This record gives sequence, C-alpha cells and structure tokens, in this order.
Amino acid sequence: MTKLAVFASGSGSNFEAIAEACRSGRIKAEVALMVCDKPSAGVIARAERYGVETFVFSPRDYASRDQWESLIADLLDSHGVELVCLAGYMRIVGGVLLERYRDRIINIHPSLLPSFKGAHAIADAMAYGVKVYGVTIHRVDETLDGGRIISQRAIDYDGDDADHLTEMIHAVEHELYIETINKLIDK
Ligand code: GAR
Repeated sequence: MTKLAVFASGSGSNFEAIAEACRSGRIKAEVALMVCDKPSAGVIARAERYGVETFVFSPRDYASRDQWESLIADLLDSHGVELVCLAGYMRIVGGVLLERYRDRIINIHPSLLPSFKGAHAIADAMAYGVKVYGVTIHRVDETLDGGRIISQRAIDYDGDDADHLTEMIHAVEHELYIETINKLIDK
C-alpha cells in the first residue's frame, strides 16, 4: 500500500477528503503521517479522528527551516512515505525537503495558476473580478505556488458571495486531489 503524508496549516478539509478516500478505498493508499506547523490548527483534531499519526511543530522552536525539515525528512523516510501532499500548508518548502523528496511533493492551490499565487488567492481573484475561478495541483519547487502543473479544473462563478464561492472551490479541490493522487500512485 502506498504511503502518503499530508502537510497542513489550517482547518484540514483537504486532509479529511484524502484520509476519507483512503479509508473508503477510493485511494489505494494510506495516510501515514500528517505534518502541521500550527499547534492550534483544526486539522490536528481531524487527524486524530482518523487515527493518523501527527507531527506538529512550532517553527519558532527551531533555529532554522533546515533544522525542522531534516527532522520531517527523517520521519518521512522512517514511515516509508512515497508522496507528500501539501494541503493548505502555508509555508515555502526549503532545500532540505526538496533535495530529499523532489518530484514527490505536490501542492493544491485555489486558483488557476499562474494567476493569483499566495495565501489569499480566492479573495484576490474575487477582488480582480474574474468570472472563471479554479483549482491547480502542481509539483512543488522552491518558489511560492510554483512548479510544474499536474492538473487544473476551472469553475465558472459570476456572483459576490465569498462563502459560497469558497465552498464551491473546496468541493472541487477535494475531488481533484483524490483523482490526481490516484493518477500519480497508479503510475
Ligand atoms: C485550500 O483552499 C488550499 O488550496 C489553500 O488553503 C486551503 C486549505 O483548506 N492553499 C493555498 O492557498 C496554498 N497557497 P483546508 O485546510 O480546508 O484544506
């Protein structure tokens, strides 16, 4: 069974979609580890509910990003992780993890990249007045929301209800993440 790790900083709806798909057999893999850089994040309780082992850390407890990334890379190795899925992990991945896991780290982003990179993609796209939103899954490199695109899905929306739009985008994210992970682990 393929072993996945999910990295998250927030509420964890994408984590849960992946964990649920693994549990139900929609994804033929197991979430072996959830990594979180925010001790107050909602994703931690979700991981506990799914019985997924967690590594939760505060960046300020470490001297450098290299230091926490070395620890995480060792954990990924010891858990036999083959694919790392960033799911709302609001941090640039550094050289240590990229060197050891390059091409095995993917990220989901709530826009049609390369438009609207960063932490406020949905709000930025709405403020710009776009009529086609979307979701992108891409390989991770050392740049913010950069790296080769693996899959994208567009979402037509011409309203001004940010909550409704966010819900629509999350629903597409959950589906696209499951489909994309399946394609990658099937290869
Ligand atoms: C998701 O919309 C994800 O695409 C976004 O954070 C949200 C996390 O939601 N990621 C980025 O903006 C990365 N730049 P979740 O915690 O409910 O999965």
